Amino acid sequence: MRKVKIGIIGCGNISGIYLQNLTHVFANTEVFAVSDFSEERMQQAADTYGVPNQWTAEQVLNSPEIEIIVNLTTPDQHFRICKLALEHGKHVYVEKPLSLLPEQGHELVELAREKGLLLGGAPDTFLGAGLQTCRKLIDDGYIGQPIAATAFMLCHGHENWHPNPGFYYQAGGGPMFDMGPYYLTALVSLLGPAETVAGMTSKSFEQRTITSQPLFGEKIDVEVPTHIAGTLKFKSGAIATMITSFDVWSSTLPPIEIYGTQGTLLVPDPNNFGGPISLRPAGATEFKEIPVVHQYGENSRGIGVSDMADCVLSGGTPRANGELTNHVLEMMHAFHESSDSGNYVQLKTTCEQPRPLNTGLIKGYLS
Ligand SMILES: NC(=O)c1ccc[n+]([C@@H]2O[C@H](COP(=O)([O-])OP(=O)(O)OC[C@H]3O[C@@H](n4cnc5c(N)ncnc54)[C@H](O)[C@@H]3O)[C@@H](O)[C@H]2O)c1
Repeated sequence: MRKVKIGIIGCGNISGIYLQNLTHVFANTEVFAVSDFSEERMQQAADTYGVPNQWTAEQVLNSPEIEIIVNLTTPDQHFRICKLALEHGKHVYVEKPLSLLPEQGHELVELAREKGLLLGGAPDTFLGAGLQTCRKLIDDGYIGQPIAATAFMLCHGHENWHPNPGFYYQAGGGPMFDMGPYYLTALVSLLGPAETVAGMTSKSFEQRTITSQPLFGEKIDVEVPTHIAGTLKFKSGAIATMITSFDVWSSTLPPIEIYGTQGTLLVPDPNNFGGPISLRPAGATEFKEIPVVHQYGENSRGIGVSDMADCVLSGGTPRANGELTNHVLEMMHAFHESSDSGNYVQLKTTCEQPRPLNTGLIKGYLS
């Protein structure tokens, strides 16, 4: 199999696992160049993973060899780099979120379509063993027809561990934009696209105090809602209740549960690739843990890029595609918009429910 040459722009925190998996795990990818403003981070990435070229973003964009650009920059750069990549005739895969604004997401989807290029983005955790096994259980009828779901991500923010947590409380931050992509993408993978969103938001703390180093003791002014509660109606008719919060000290709520006409499925944390999964069919007296039956239970970030590389080689649409990430971006904004207006928001975007992966895959391959 030919390897598709990848150029990675952004060699920060998350880049290590992409570099590891795209150089050592997936059979169809080769990291040909890395780029970062920081010479040191770029050098370290190249040395650790044996990447032959350390280039400026411009050199990556202009390289005739590179076919896919993987954009691992900070969210404020996502739109600009993705647009440049498409304008330079490259397929592009971007970390979450697709862009800051829905109109930017829409512009990227349209540009990719016009140019006949592939656009995709994180999260790709829904392609992991845990969420794929859940998908198979639903598709195989183990809980009957899904009628409802819950999705909860409650914590007290990131200022107790993140070295520079200010951005979580500024425009583009907040718990929905930070963690919502994992939960919403998992729900779309399990239930299909959504059509209506109702939301209420609040900001419980005007200021946060950093307790991590090196900024210990500094105050952050909170500019965005930090508790977002809402309801989503899916095209299938299923209704999901969702809370994302940075205002809650502790909670016992599970990450995701799916309720079907014939039983209940407990879905693992959608920020991870593995289990545990539990199922309780109608009439059963207890939940039983279900073993994961798919490949990719460990941190497999980059699986969405490998899927895109398969499509470059053989045609087709990647599972973690632009329509899906754009639909998720619109949903995240819709919770806030609904809260501001006091109205339900009818979503303008939609997407296909992504195709499931098969069981029995050999590690490194997706088919
Ligand atoms: N850190 C995590 O645990 C994590 C987890 C999941 C997703 N993400 C997502 O991954 C993305 C990156 O996060 P991170 O934590 O790695 O951020 P980071 O700040 O550690 O790294 C971003 C890197 O991109 C570089 N960069 C920015 N603009 C650039 C440009 N135009 N050209 C070249 N280099 C550029 C910066 O110099 C920096 O090294 C974000 O979208 C984030 O939401 C991060």
